Amino acid sequence: MEPEILKQTQQGLYIFKEVLRSRTSCRGFLDTPVSENTITSVLEDAKLAPSNCNTQPWETHIISGNKLKELSEALLRENNAERFTPDFSFDTNEYHDRYKERYFNLSKTHYDGFRVKREDKEGRKEVSDLNYTFFNAPHVAIPFMPSFGDNVRVGGDIGMYGQTFLLSLTAHGLAGIPQTALGFFAGTIREILNVPSELKMLFGISFGYADPNSPGNSFKLGRDPLSSNVTFHQ
Ligand SMILES: Cc1cc2nc3c(=O)[nH]c(=O)nc-3n(C[C@H](O)[C@H](O)[C@H](O)COP(=O)(O)O)c2cc1C
Repeated sequence: MEPEILKQTQQGLYIFKEVLRSRTSCRGFLDTPVSENTITSVLEDAKLAPSNCNTQPWETHIISGNKLKELSEALLRENNAERFTPDFSFDTNEYHDRYKERYFNLSKTHYDGFRVKREDKEGRKEVSDLNYTFFNAPHVAIPFMPSFGDNVRVGGDIGMYGQTFLLSLTAHGLAGIPQTALGFFAGTIREILNVPSELKMLFGISFGYADPNSPGNSFKLGRDPLSSNVTFHQ
């Protein structure tokens, strides 16, 4: 017979692997709001993320209800007017070689999932604009961050926080999607939420209950094998 502790460990590993493999970026949510208790529980998990020198550089805002509506209207308006106010540059033309290939593959899978043809510019914009209605999510989390030097390390910390938040959502039966698209309007978002300009924004996370029937949830992105990105030394 296996010792109890080993069984518990195996069960824990099994659950962890299940959570990890069922997390996926959700692009279609139900209206159903998430209870305050559950949101707090996810936030308690997310704050366990590691950070450089334990600086815990996340200043998280959760937006719901009327404020979310106001934010969505502002983002759609600013996006249509192409009034971008990002804190950090982002240019997909900078992707090269296999990174570019993976980006193209995501693009194709994504638009195929929404049944929009490559040449259908309007259809593609409609799908892309779903970012600004948060794919119908009832909540958005924005982990604002202080600015330190070139911000690379603090950006890494925010990434760790984001992934911990996303995995906790999955473990709670919820779904989420990190969105750089929201970061294109960091200035507008700060204004609406009354956040000081010292705090910067990389991405937001829309979250809630996944709508299993949404075309935005009809595809799953794969990953390349370890042989393409891991080198062992000894
Ligand atoms: C920091 C970050 C920002 C992202 N921004 C967006 C976004 O603005 N819009 C979007 O549809 N997906 C966005 N994604 C989701 C990625 O496309 C997705 O993670 C990737 O294709 C892998 O798919 P998966 O998350 O379902 O495994 C973002 C992901 C990350 C990590």
